[in-house]
Amino acid sequence: MTTTPDEPGELHRIAVLGGVYSNAHALAATLDDARARGAEAVFCLGDLGGFGPHPDRVFPLLHAHGVRVIQGNYDLALAQGHDDCGCGYTDPRDNHFARLSYRYTFDRTSRDHRRWLATLPAHRRVRLGDRRLLLCHGSPRQVNEFLWESTTPDGLLGRLLDEARADAILCTHSGLKWHRALPDDRRLVNVGVIGRPENDGTPRVWYALLTAEPRGGLDVELLPVDYDHEAQARDMEAEGLPPEFVETIRTGWWTTCLEVLPARERARGRF
Ligand SMILES: [Fe+2]
Repeated sequence: MTTTPDEPGELHRIAVLGGVYSNAHALAATLDDARARGAEAVFCLGDLGGFGPHPDRVFPLLHAHGVRVIQGNYDLALAQGHDDCGCGYTDPRDNHFARLSYRYTFDRTSRDHRRWLATLPAHRRVRLGDRRLLLCHGSPRQVNEFLWESTTPDGLLGRLLDEARADAILCTHSGLKWHRALPDDRRLVNVGVIGRPENDGTPRVWYALLTAEPRGGLDVELLPVDYDHEAQARDMEAEGLPPEFVETIRTGWWTTCLEVLPARERARGRF
């Protein structure tokens, strides 16, 4: 596993976000929220582009706020000039929309930004109080593995934590947040995504705030962010992006990429 060395300095509270999907409006609101809540550092688990408009707009925000970014499957595909995003869809309709979105994003991501994406690490190790965190995109073993709450038994979670030599794994990619602690207090936190809502009928998006507890251990909060989703929807319409994507931003219901959802997660949505 290629990782960066442990983050230097002592950290007590961090924000972790994923799946920006070219949503600069949501990114700005999330960074403001994290700062207001006292986050000492902000980490992004990748997938900066896709789905939304004007992909180049998120990079200056990330740089201005010193966000430490790891590489998602979308970032890897853009950096290497792949033909598709490597999102792992099997349904033809999902692949149709994924291709449209990828082609739009590739054509509008500057060469300099694509070069920067190529430099990002696949993992990061962070020490938070006495806890060792492993930050990744899909899972520690595969950039585009979906870790769903309903299909990740405790046994698998324990093995992933053993292999990662970590007290907590933080991931994104699936688009749905969840958090589980094993009896020994080791954890998995899927931080959700900030680029699109999470199929719950509201336009808000989610990220994670992690705080080292004074006597050891970890406090994990999954936090909603309200942002100017109407501005995002209008920007998407002006760019001619698929109406199905715009509807999701406005309504909070997923209209595409549903085939990958396990039955329990899909039953919570409208479609
Ligand atoms: Fe992803």
